Amino acid sequence: MKVLGISFGRIDQRSDVMVKEALFAAKAAGAEVEFINTIRLNIGHCRACDYCSRCRDKGDVEIHCCMKDDYHILEEKCLDADGIIIAAPVYAVGIVGQFKNFVDRFGPSHDRAALLEENKKRAEAGKPLLDERYFKDRYVGYISVGGAQTHNWVALGLPMLDLFTFSFCMKCVGHVDAYDQGRTGHPLFDKELMRKCADLGTAVATSLGKPYDEVDTWIGPDGVCPVCHNQLLSINGTTTVECPICGIFGKLSVDGDKVTVDFSEEEKNRARNTNIGIYEHYNEIQNMITVCVPKLIANKDTLPKMMEKYKNFDEVVNNM
Ligand SMILES: Cc1cc2nc3c(=O)[nH]c(=O)nc-3n(C[C@H](O)[C@H](O)[C@H](O)COP(=O)(O)O)c2cc1C
Repeated sequence: MKVLGISFGRIDQRSDVMVKEALFAAKAAGAEVEFINTIRLNIGHCRACDYCSRCRDKGDVEIHCCMKDDYHILEEKCLDADGIIIAAPVYAVGIVGQFKNFVDRFGPSHDRAALLEENKKRAEAGKPLLDERYFKDRYVGYISVGGAQTHNWVALGLPMLDLFTFSFCMKCVGHVDAYDQGRTGHPLFDKELMRKCADLGTAVATSLGKPYDEVDTWIGPDGVCPVCHNQLLSINGTTTVECPICGIFGKLSVDGDKVTVDFSEEEKNRARNTNIGIYEHYNEIQNMITVCVPKLIANKDTLPKMMEKYKNFDEVVNNM
């Protein structure tokens, strides 16, 4: 079974070193390992052309993006892997944009619920099924790398890395918040940090091939959310709060200076990376279609007239 290590950082710099440390440990734990650095890859952003959905709907076995750039190299490597460890630099408080470009093209086009539903239709019609690699359960681990001295300037690093987890229903077994690189100088000067990276590699490698419900490994601080272990909460003015990463609700209570949030088992089971969570979103999209399409049909003659002002924006503004 293979663990893929991906570095979105500079060649031979901090992300490379830390993810390679995780891979050494994964190899020692018995996994096959592979490393890729993406910095020279050209991965453009999703243009929402819907080509990938059409591949799925017209019966193709593989789902492709029509953009001819290097996205496919990384896509193939992820599909072949059983475990994936990503190390990526924080730029402007969140993860470097190339990572998000990849996630936008890789995640939604491989949405597990949409692909399972498509396969049901194909099985009934006796048509070729989708590539089996889309349905493989995978384990992931994340390393967020930042120069800032405190967590303050890396706050969205680990939460953004978790965006890779959902659509494919992967399970994250740990994360390392490697900030303070500006003072550390080099990760190799920090034995404790390197040990955390190695532990992450071991955790991913030793989870491979096991059903998700048999793995409760977690490498890293507990955090607030019991699923992604991040520290973020969305607050709506009541004591019902939400983990914005996993989309699950909890009950917040305050005792003096101590704040606790209790997430029920039922909520944990509907996190975005679970079958229930991914189907909630799939059904939401199906419901949108049933509401939206009749509205568009009913307004098919009036909408183009309503749109004229917006299409001719420059002319309209200049005459105002
Ligand atoms: C454009 C840019 C923005 C950055 N923004 C942040 C930031 O907001 N917070 C932070 O902690 N580090 C920031 N950094 C520092 C990088 O995260 C740090 O240099 C990291 O080690 C880069 O990863 P690498 O060594 O693997 O290439 C920034 C670096 C660059 C080039």
